[in-house]
Amino acid sequence: MFISFEGIEGSGKSTTARALAEHLQERGLDPLLTREPGGCTLGRGLRHTLLDMRVHTLSSRAELFLFLADRTQHVTEVIRPALEAGQIVLCDRYVDSTLAYQGYGRGLDTGFLRRLNETATGGLMPEVTLLLDVPVPCGLTRAGKCNKDAGTTISEGRFDSESRDFHERVRSGYHALTQEEPDRFAVIDSSQLFEDVILQCFSVVERTLRRFGDAD
Ligand code: TYD
Repeated sequence: MFISFEGIEGSGKSTTARALAEHLQERGLDPLLTREPGGCTLGRGLRHTLLDMRVHTLSSRAELFLFLADRTQHVTEVIRPALEAGQIVLCDRYVDSTLAYQGYGRGLDTGFLRRLNETATGGLMPEVTLLLDVPVPCGLTRAGKCNKDAGTTISEGRFDSESRDFHERVRSGYHALTQEEPDRFAVIDSSQLFEDVILQCFSVVERTLRRFGDAD
């Protein structure tokens, strides 16, 4: 089973994905937690460039192709082999990030992006996508706080430092995507207490597991 996590900066995806991985492990299942960009060796180098705030000259298309290169290699080297080995793959960001950020955020054509995503992934799509939805001001405040707490240097903030409008476009883009594929997306209000967010995510995943016949 393949599950992806999506949302704007500070939506709590990464923390939720980690909590879910632990929950599945406690249930005796074998999850693989990975992320984009940076879930494979090639991607770790690309992530550096993509998130580096000092990189001012990256065009939208160059940025797009770096995310796609990361995804292509990540699917081939990490995601497909794990699925074939029977693991549950939890991926922090996947194809929808490209549609939301490069499509709705940067203004690239979403039809074109869908075709490129298809080429990069060989059509591999998650069974369920958890969209952690939070208003932009709340997300950006949280992201700023997390970066400060984690001692993140300025070198990883290229997207955090985009305008409020950019993040609003990304968030509305995610909403549009959920309208197009309501069966794949589960939208979780992540402005709630973290415990409630986690419980709702667990219940979506448990339901999906039952659908797949993997539950006890
Ligand atoms: P990351 O530090 O992983 O951010 P977050 O903690 O919010 O997930 O940085 C990933 C950034 O890359 C994030 O701002 C979204 C952006 N991104 C894209 O623009 N397109 C993509 O296809 C992907 C995978 C990520």
